[in-house]
Amino acid sequence: MSTRRWVMAERPHGKLETHHLDLVDAPREAIGDGEIEIETIFVSIDPTTRLWMSDVSQHAQPIQLGDPIRSFVWGRVSASRNKRHREGDMVFALGAWESFTRTRHATAIPKSHALPLSAHASVLGLTGLTAYFGMLDVGRPQAGETVVVSAAGGAVGSVAAQIGRILGCRTVGIVGSEAKAAKIVREYRLDAAVSRQGDLSAALAAACPSGIDVDFENVAGPVLDAVMEHINPGARLVLCGMISAYESDGVWPANVVRPLLMKRARLEGVLISAYFNRLQEGVEALAGWVKSGEMRWDVDVLNGIERAPEALQRVLSGANIGKQLVQLAPDPWA
Ligand SMILES: NC(=O)c1ccc[n+]([C@@H]2O[C@H](COP(=O)([O-])OP(=O)(O)OC[C@H]3O[C@@H](n4cnc5c(N)ncnc54)[C@H](OP(=O)(O)O)[C@@H]3O)[C@@H](O)[C@H]2O)c1
Repeated sequence: MSTRRWVMAERPHGKLETHHLDLVDAPREAIGDGEIEIETIFVSIDPTTRLWMSDVSQHAQPIQLGDPIRSFVWGRVSASRNKRHREGDMVFALGAWESFTRTRHATAIPKSHALPLSAHASVLGLTGLTAYFGMLDVGRPQAGETVVVSAAGGAVGSVAAQIGRILGCRTVGIVGSEAKAAKIVREYRLDAAVSRQGDLSAALAAACPSGIDVDFENVAGPVLDAVMEHINPGARLVLCGMISAYESDGVWPANVVRPLLMKRARLEGVLISAYFNRLQEGVEALAGWVKSGEMRWDVDVLNGIERAPEALQRVLSGANIGKQLVQLAPDPWA
């Protein structure tokens, strides 16, 4: 049996097009000592994958021509020569858009909380956990404060915004359209949501009459510039992502320095990799909120590895609600 994988055929500059990627069949190589093979059930579709396709300075090595398209995968151990993982175990690992992944480093997913594997790949997965640690460790919102979250309909943003609400804050989402704004207010029970099309600064002024205390920033660029016009003294800005720059070869927007000084505000980056030794703490808290009904979780699933590029295009155009996944095999815990 072979593995089907997407590789980078041509480096994208600007919009990701199908000719930048090739779907290839490759032989499955035998695993070495200490390795496992994972049969992919869910491929995580992340905007960061588009950033990895650009040859710019970033937190990971850019993907090179001919390389598999790197991403996290959730799946079943199909072969193991590693003492920590047995055949049949569920794990997640850094892999690629492919049907089988070989690796030495995977994290076991205990069957817990009676939730499907798709929940472990979304709200309890790395994106939900990024929202959790970014909000609680870096943003530290206090009840009664105003929290703003950009890309608030996405995998990280939808969880971050609901945490703001759960902690008793006035919570306002920013998204790409009025229709999505209305939808997330209703479904995630936010106080307000505004579209970044149009006069975002005026919309934020109306939605945040007491100013902004915490900004959970997924977009940056003009969205962050508009937020900065309304921050309160001592505001905390959680810089989680800069999706507005990912299709422009990482020309990073940086027009934020002046308000940081004038408002004595703090802008701090968050990377989930810094929390890998605390993941379980976040999983327990998020699962508690899911089970009590306080936290809604959405997955947007396309079936078949062939659809991975389309799935990433959905994310980059804002067509997704919640976590975008590509599913290759039935969810064993559904
Ligand atoms: N720091 C970390 O460890 C970490 C971990 C995971 C993710 N992240 C970052 O968190 C952010 C969100 O990731 P995610 O996984 O939640 O994404 P997602 O679910 O894939 O959603 C991304 C959303 O961003 C919005 N968007 C897309 N392109 C945009 C653009 N050019 N300008 C403005 N908005 C745009 C879209 O919604 P609307 O257009 O409706 O707003 C889209 O639905 C990304 O920046 C990602 O890199 C960081």
